[in-house]
Amino acid sequence: MSSSFQAPKGVSEYVPPRADLFYAIREAFAEQARLAGYGYLELAVFEDTNLFRRGVGESTDVVSKEMYTFEDRGGRSLTLRPEFTATVLRSVLENNLHKTGALPVKVWTTGPAFRAERPQQGRYRQFYQLDLEAIGSEDPQVDAETIAIAANWYRSLGLSRVRLLLNSLGCKECRPAYRALLQDFLRGLDLDEATRARIEINPLRVLDDKRPQVRAQVQDAPLMADHLCPACKAHHDRVRELLADLGIGWEDDPRLVRGLDYYTRTTYEFDHPLLGAQSGIGGGGRYDGLSEDIGGPPLPGIGFGLGLDRTVLALEAEGAAFAPKPRCEAFGVALGEAAERRLFALVAELRRAGIAADMAFGGKKLKGAMKDADRSGARYAVILGERDIADGVAQVKDLAEGEQTAVPLTDLTSTLKERLSR
Ligand code: HAM
Repeated sequence: MSSSFQAPKGVSEYVPPRADLFYAIREAFAEQARLAGYGYLELAVFEDTNLFRRGVGESTDVVSKEMYTFEDRGGRSLTLRPEFTATVLRSVLENNLHKTGALPVKVWTTGPAFRAERPQQGRYRQFYQLDLEAIGSEDPQVDAETIAIAANWYRSLGLSRVRLLLNSLGCKECRPAYRALLQDFLRGLDLDEATRARIEINPLRVLDDKRPQVRAQVQDAPLMADHLCPACKAHHDRVRELLADLGIGWEDDPRLVRGLDYYTRTTYEFDHPLLGAQSGIGGGGRYDGLSEDIGGPPLPGIGFGLGLDRTVLALEAEGAAFAPKPRCEAFGVALGEAAERRLFALVAELRRAGIAADMAFGGKKLKGAMKDADRSGARYAVILGERDIADGVAQVKDLAEGEQTAVPLTDLTSTLKERLSR
């Protein structure tokens, strides 16, 4: 019987064996971030609500409809982070990382984020992201570097069907004129009232509308890509050249609009074709005005958020070969009390030598203990009886092949190490 409680609706939780995969892909990302010189941050899970209002933008669905906002006991309005970028930038500025170190400040973080969305496969109210940001440089090489980190990570997991969709959203010089042009075009269309209201607040989002009757009408809408100022065009061209140099494939998607307001210039999404409606497995871009929006100095930035939940789903959908390190490689089975005591120490010794080892507890009989050994997923059972102790050996059984050999106790660790490395 389970308890009377269930996790709240829409919370994505991981338990073994899936949790092992979840943890391992996060570790694999930590390695990619380290190799590219990004330092780890551990950050606030809730923030002053105004940080997201000003940072992410009032007109976004995330801020207007999806935030978990509450008042604390001191009457402050706090919000569970719906994303990381505003928090990362707030922390970088608060801790003066932009003044004490070289620019760009290169950092990454991970953990849960919260959005009150309608839950479905791949869309949760508590979900997990890997977030990486480079703050303080406009150099297009930084754009390409961050994209490459994400692409390398997907590749290291064995995902082969990830698509990169790329666009530029211009800057404060060229976007206002384009926005006005787009608004003029959209006002002339036959659209419902909610969409008409959106034209005035966030016209770029209309381009992203998935409904066929809207799509057909915006077919000929003016596109930002055709109205970039010379500096933005040069930046965008350079990013694409650098991606080509790195052998990273992409598709230009001039209709790509992201759901958060802070984006400027480079914007992109990673998409997985096997995930249906929630195919966006990661996304990012530049946010050259965000620092000023939250009261900081002018400080350009770029980064991405990768969805861990959807990446797990993509790995499962592709049947990718990536496997977490085993939780148990050798499983101890003792026959009798004296053997159990000796085995307990032997298991500890194996662990010290870097072998994942476990054993049957509670004085289990041979049959039950061997069942535990099979369930553990270990490659070897290490069986120890009174006789074996007298002979100074343990029986090492290959659980897949069934063959069993006596190994001197003094050689147990080195023998297992050698066999496990085959
Ligand atoms: P985002 O596109 O809102 O960007 O989220 C990034 C990724 O988080 C998405 O591509 C998706 O995989 C995952 N995700 C978002 N919402 C959910 C959900 N409800 N359930 C499951 N997964 C979800 C950002 O959050 C930006 N802060 C990324 C960024 C960083 N831009 C610049 N720096």
